[in-house]
Amino acid sequence: MINCELFTCDAATKKLYDKAKKERIDTVWDRALAMQPQCGFGEMGLCCTNCSMGPCRIVKVSDDGPKAGICGATEDTIVSRNFARAVAAGSAAHSDHGRDIALALYHATGKSSVKDEEKLFKIAGEWGIKVEGKDASRIAREVAEKALSEFGKIFGKLLFLKRAPHKRQNLWDELGVAPEAIDREIVEVLHSTHMGCDADYRNIIRQAIRAALSDGWGGSMIGTELSDVLFGTPAPRKVEANLGVLKKECVNIVVHGHEPTLSEAIVMAAKDSELLELAKKQGAEGINVVGMCCTGNEIAMRHGIPMAGDFFQQELAIVTGAVEAMIVDVQCIMPSLATVAKCYHTKLITTSPKAKVPGAIHIEFDEQKGLDIAKRIVKEAVMNFKNRKGEIYIPDVKSEGEIGYSFEAIIKILDRVTNSFAHPSGTVKPLVDAIKSGVLRGAVAIVGCNNHKQPHNSCHVTLAKELLRRDILVVTTGCGAHSCIKAGLMSKDARKYCGKGLATVCELLDIPPVLHLGSCVDISRILVLLSEVANYMGVDISDLPVAAAAPEWMSEKAQSIGLYAVASGIYVVLGVSPAVTGSENVTNYLTKDLESVLGGRFEIEKDPVKAAEKIAVHIENKRKQLGI
Ligand code: SF4
Ligand code: FE2
Repeated sequence: MINCELFTCDAATKKLYDKAKKERIDTVWDRALAMQPQCGFGEMGLCCTNCSMGPCRIVKVSDDGPKAGICGATEDTIVSRNFARAVAAGSAAHSDHGRDIALALYHATGKSSVKDEEKLFKIAGEWGIKVEGKDASRIAREVAEKALSEFGKIFGKLLFLKRAPHKRQNLWDELGVAPEAIDREIVEVLHSTHMGCDADYRNIIRQAIRAALSDGWGGSMIGTELSDVLFGTPAPRKVEANLGVLKKECVNIVVHGHEPTLSEAIVMAAKDSELLELAKKQGAEGINVVGMCCTGNEIAMRHGIPMAGDFFQQELAIVTGAVEAMIVDVQCIMPSLATVAKCYHTKLITTSPKAKVPGAIHIEFDEQKGLDIAKRIVKEAVMNFKNRKGEIYIPDVKSEGEIGYSFEAIIKILDRVTNSFAHPSGTVKPLVDAIKSGVLRGAVAIVGCNNHKQPHNSCHVTLAKELLRRDILVVTTGCGAHSCIKAGLMSKDARKYCGKGLATVCELLDIPPVLHLGSCVDISRILVLLSEVANYMGVDISDLPVAAAAPEWMSEKAQSIGLYAVASGIYVVLGVSPAVTGSENVTNYLTKDLESVLGGRFEIEKDPVKAAEKIAVHIENKRKQLGI
């Protein structure tokens, strides 16, 4: 059995892991243990299955054994192809999410279908869509159409690239990495990495960069921006987090996955008076909707719905015995949920044609009949309340934090200071002043998932604390955000972890030292913020005293995020190595050489304390170069 102390710093996770053991339920940690030792070829990226002459694997550990695939592909070719394909898959996942949101906006009708008209008009302006004489729903349709054409347009570059600093845009043009159409960039990775195509690792990574940039500055940004238009741009609010937010007396519904279209509808349906009445008839006190993973971030920041848990807590939510339904859409949904749900009364309900799970109930979601379908799903949960069996145990572990710091919300907060000093509002000036004066040394984004190769949550939390004490502001998204809020780092009280400078900034702005910017696609908000700061200072993103870290990452999406961050000029520290170590050339290219080309690079550092030290050195170097 895995030692709980080793695998998590989260009390609720420990307690429910013990219950799972007692009830002989296998969780992600048990399966990870059973998988040891993991395949060395796979770990180093040295296995190729790109054609049926394979699989081929390159032997590195001894002089014996093959040094090239049957076709002659070298370790450099095989490793870079595998990496590029992972990036393309990640970019595809985020971008398809963005496409679904654009489609939802396209089909949205009626006056109330647009929650943030200001943002709609702003995007229309950026994209050259005339707004005079048109109502919001017509503009929304035209913006959605334009967004959808970003996926397959024949000529021209992605429209949101214009948000990047000019220097960055010029660099992308010079290097030939400015993406044109999102789908095309992903297709080109698949084509060029097909057997017998591109064998040059630098050129393969160049195409992977195009696909990654089409995620960050394309699909993800479309996902974020149009979600704000449809459902509202997040503003700061308080929420509770961790599995202690489940309520024994209520029908508990966990919404898990990524796209806010489904979760928004579920949140609305759960307020339906007939369903609430029905829940009472079943003996429940009410209906308690909570969110998990990125869906958790989305509905928390727009509705104050509690954040039940991160990627590694999904099985444990069911192990409480108190979850009537877990409703999922796409991405990060463990197929094991169906097996765990079978041992309890929980109904696992899949809703996307892109993500069905054997053993689950499938109720397909359709935005155009969104509320009706959502009511049907909620009714399934309500009627399941009386089927509870076995011991119900909800750990009394939860914390509170402030979330919802969208770019627009941050600007509003900065305006409070700007206005009080009679400076022009709507700029990042106060933030830049704090950085220039040295009160704030810099900022770091801590993002990403959970991975059994790293202690659960503790890498995120340790890294955040190490940075805070060095007067480095932390912004976070995804499961990194779940870790931070659970550890109390999004409360004002977390100022106790800060150095004097950061504590003063937080007090002045009345913010917590770790800012929640949303879900994984919302890393695009960080790109917008960085561009704004760089433009204000008249420099490129790569000149800023900033960095990013993904201490517990695991998904292909994270590889895409990492690469678009590097290609945007950011120093990115990974706590888990991507499968590239089988090629010294590819590893060196990603962790060293790219810096002279793009201004950003990867660093692999498992230990969060050492990662913080490296980040601090990087930030101080950038400050020196800026002369501040
Ligand atoms: Fe082997 Fe080459 Fe086919 Fe890959 S593409 S499986 S290295 S023969
Ligand atoms: Fe996510």
